[in-house]
Amino acid sequence: MTTAFDTFDLSGTPLASRVVMAPMTRSRAGEGGVPTDLMVEYYAQRASAGLIVTEGVQPSVVGQGYPFTPGLHSAEQTEGWREVTDAVHAAGGKIYAQIMHSGRIGHPVLLPDGLVPVAPSAVPAAGQLYTAEGMKDFVTPRELTGAEVRETISEYVTAARNAIDAGFDGVELHGANGYLIHQFLSTNTNLRTDEWGGSAENRVRFAAEVTKAVAEAIGAGRTGLRISPANPYNDIAETDTDLVYPALVEAVAPLGIAYLHVVEAAPRLRELTLELRAKFPGAFILNPATEGPTDHGSLALVDEGVADLVAFGALFLANPDLPARLRTEGPYNTPDPASFFGGDHRGYTDYPALAA
Ligand SMILES: Cc1cc2nc3c(=O)[nH]c(=O)nc-3n(C[C@H](O)[C@H](O)[C@H](O)COP(=O)(O)O)c2cc1C
Repeated sequence: MTTAFDTFDLSGTPLASRVVMAPMTRSRAGEGGVPTDLMVEYYAQRASAGLIVTEGVQPSVVGQGYPFTPGLHSAEQTEGWREVTDAVHAAGGKIYAQIMHSGRIGHPVLLPDGLVPVAPSAVPAAGQLYTAEGMKDFVTPRELTGAEVRETISEYVTAARNAIDAGFDGVELHGANGYLIHQFLSTNTNLRTDEWGGSAENRVRFAAEVTKAVAEAIGAGRTGLRISPANPYNDIAETDTDLVYPALVEAVAPLGIAYLHVVEAAPRLRELTLELRAKFPGAFILNPATEGPTDHGSLALVDEGVADLVAFGALFLANPDLPARLRTEGPYNTPDPASFFGGDHRGYTDYPALAA
């Protein structure tokens, strides 16, 4: 029987297990969005994952949604990431960079030169976001012109090329959780009347074109896509989840990409998860809907064939040696939400491993 602790061939990248570290923003990058020595240590500590997916990394200046997040659009950022990938590889791990353009989820105070966040349509998100100047209401984003949509796709491509230069095994495109790609997919955030909006087929186009362009640039076998059907996070209100996600998966299926990574926002979505898995020919990573953080109880998803790999978020943040702890079904260190975003080594690199 196949188990989560079996090896996996991810389009030619050999993984030691099917245990994936889910992408997690930690807001500890240095000046100019450059990775720090502390980030090198954090990721190297977690190299026993079958695959690490990094925190969201902005592909452009305007794509940054939170303070102290890292980028992959400058030479200094790329150099900084090389130290991360070298350390993870030296420790026997594999690592993908998550490319995250935050779209309307951002704020001018985070951006230089009077820049305003951009989005498919000029629809502000309800609510507030954290900035260095405190909590701020989301602003109305500027609608991308058709030419700018194309330029944005090329920014993903440049960031993906930089990721490969930096030694990453591949990139995951962040199409989940209400950021730019998800904003194109959802009916409440995409009011466009051109080829990028309207029908489900048109709303899928941006996700599909980004995926295609990145796969052509760095290789389909090094390209993954993350989605979160029906996830209301960041003020997303989808009205045709059952149409738009099957259409998206049909559009990307022929590209031969390494994986599809589904964040299951609620248990009721399992049927859709299974439908998407059946439509997708590559590897399927599931970050399942669970009560509390995903733990060893979800490993059986691999045995049952629901997923090829399982992603663990909060518990991986708090347990650098998570695969070893999953094998023994715990014990686990408890994640401390107060140190999730920003700060120093506390709540970052000081979670202890089990005694040898
Ligand atoms: C601190 C923190 C930061 C996160 N940042 C990201 C991110 O940058 N990109 C992303 O796709 N998901 C992000 N997530 C969501 C996780 O990848 C994951 O889907 C979520 O935590 C649920 O999985 P879990 O129950 O195993 O924690 C974040 C979650 C946490 C806890």
